[in-house]
Amino acid sequence: MGKNSQDSFYITTPIYYVNAEPHIGHAYTTIVADVIARFYRLSGFDTFFLTGTDEHGNKVVEAAEKSGETVKTYVDRISQIFKETWPKINIKHDYFVRTTDKNHKDTVSKILSQVYAKGDIYFSEYEGKYCIGCERFYTDTELLNGKCPIHLAEPKIISEENYFFRMSNYQEWLINYIKSNPDFIRPERYRNEVIAFLREPLEDLCISRPKTRLSWGIPLPFDDNYVTYVWFDALINYISALGYPDGDLFKKFWPVAQHIIAKDILKPHGIFWPCMLKAAGIEPYQHLNVHGYWNVNMGKMSKSLGNIVKPMDLATKYGLDAFRYFLLRDMVFGLDSDFTEESLVKRFNSDLANDLGNLISRSMNMVVKYFDGKLKPSSQFKEEDISLQDASYRVVEEYKDMMKEFTFHKALIIVWELIGKANKYIDTMKPWSLATQNQERLNTVLNAVTEVIKIVSVLLWPFMPHTAEKIQHQLGLGIVGEKLPLNSVKKWGEMQRVRPLSKAAALFPRVEHDRELTPPSLGSKKIKEQDLKEDKKKGFSSGMAGPKVEEKVKEETGLISLEDFQQLDIRVGTIKEAETIPGSKKLLKLVVDIGEERTIVAGMAVYYQTNDLINKQVIVIANLVPVTLMGVESKGMILAAEDEKGVYLLIPDKESKPGSKIS
Ligand code: MSP
Repeated sequence: MGKNSQDSFYITTPIYYVNAEPHIGHAYTTIVADVIARFYRLSGFDTFFLTGTDEHGNKVVEAAEKSGETVKTYVDRISQIFKETWPKINIKHDYFVRTTDKNHKDTVSKILSQVYAKGDIYFSEYEGKYCIGCERFYTDTELLNGKCPIHLAEPKIISEENYFFRMSNYQEWLINYIKSNPDFIRPERYRNEVIAFLREPLEDLCISRPKTRLSWGIPLPFDDNYVTYVWFDALINYISALGYPDGDLFKKFWPVAQHIIAKDILKPHGIFWPCMLKAAGIEPYQHLNVHGYWNVNMGKMSKSLGNIVKPMDLATKYGLDAFRYFLLRDMVFGLDSDFTEESLVKRFNSDLANDLGNLISRSMNMVVKYFDGKLKPSSQFKEEDISLQDASYRVVEEYKDMMKEFTFHKALIIVWELIGKANKYIDTMKPWSLATQNQERLNTVLNAVTEVIKIVSVLLWPFMPHTAEKIQHQLGLGIVGEKLPLNSVKKWGEMQRVRPLSKAAALFPRVEHDRELTPPSLGSKKIKEQDLKEDKKKGFSSGMAGPKVEEKVKEETGLISLEDFQQLDIRVGTIKEAETIPGSKKLLKLVVDIGEERTIVAGMAVYYQTNDLINKQVIVIANLVPVTLMGVESKGMILAAEDEKGVYLLIPDKESKPGSKIS
């Protein structure tokens, strides 16, 4: 690690293609980068956050042609839209890089010259299968039924003379590097994916395009008839923006570089980039953090389906902080997630309006009502107060670890557990009764509550900066936001109040789910539910004449209704981990991906070996009350058939996406 890098943090997003405007997928990655950058700033780190746009290549030229503009006018316009979108959703990046910047182009030339001089670039003829959408050649094994796995389009056969980067020279080095740095690529599933890919011989990378085919790019410094392949150009943004090789920013931040990407661009980042860096004599980045894909109503987002979710529409409708919170809370970093507005509304009402909103409003109301906003400092804490204090200290420590590991949903879960504890503490302490009996104790109890609220507000600041700052203002604090560093907040009794505590309008008034911004895809559960409601109104729910008759039939026959069945959340899951439970002959502890990771205990140790279960798809009931078996909490049940010979897992007919609903 560089001398100045000890307390530094460098985070990047992919640089987005300017062939489309920002959508919820781009917004998610960029918000994640913003959240983690804010967290490190709160922790006292010197932080550099980079985003930008990727402006060369075929795709961009085609998009410009479609829009009838010159390429330069087009890239300037779309890049500007990205640049203007981020501040609107409270993204505070330090630099916005464009691959058409002079400085970037110069850096790409420099790296190409270095690698060329080293002998790692050669000229040769190549014929291959090329996907225009991905701007790259595919090997047969990478294609899915002969088609590009991302664009599902047949690649074109292209044959031409080109320059190649000897990536194969670095295969052994990269395998060893990944093996000796286990969290170089994380979460683990993506590291495994890269390692699996590296089991096959690595082909050299075609890094040029003849100008006769594509002229919009950075010319090769050693052959003016060619421009640089867009990926070789784009990846270099991460160092050109820091002023490689001599810039102070480069020296300070490169040793602690962390990238965030989605799984779609794992190969260029997990393989091309480290090899390019090694060839250029530059140390690899520190971590590649890979997240999954946002789908919309169980399907892929695409222009042609008309289901693109635009970040600004949601932020305007529900509030920016609610939108940011939802994205980070709902997606398990690393896994895919399904976006529905209905789930956003549910989270809004339960987590924000109810849990957090109520805690703040009831606490502030009481401080204003009983003490006119002026609490006296107190340290007369009793056992029950100290137990809340201990819980709040523990949460701060666990939160830090979870943030550093990019498990944002877990960090938010434990903050909400603390909010729950504080609400429960109020219910138990009954300040409204103390108000008539014991003012001293009332003052202490409200001190305890406001201490927890202060800690909660600081932990939430990276996710919901406006909300956190509003809460801190209501607490009467003199310094707010980024100025309230993580280490300073932990201790109770050190609040620097400069004005009385105050009430304010509700932070999150409840919302109703009315109009969809995105049309549900056909076959989605929502449509079925809507249809059912319509049917019910018309009086033919489940073929019955009305609810009363239905209840009677159920009672008499022991049958259940369709609605009863629909209360079960049944999903497809993929088993990710399996282990025996010490002391149990029957039980296995499984980690199952059902759109999120769940620990499930299943009684199948007698019938299945743990190794045979990995990557098997199963059917899971996901909404059972958790139970603890042999000390392990089980959150769900795996369906299996049983006869006198054994137990057989129920398995989907075809490989299905983990989390797919069964109805
Ligand atoms: N220009 C390249 C990246 C070069 S980086 C040196 C590119 N651009 S892109 O515009 O296609 O952006 C891809 C990235 O956008 C993904 O890796 C991810 O960060 C984000 N997302 C785009 N769609 C997404 C979803 N549906 N869900 C989650 N993130 C997605 O690839």
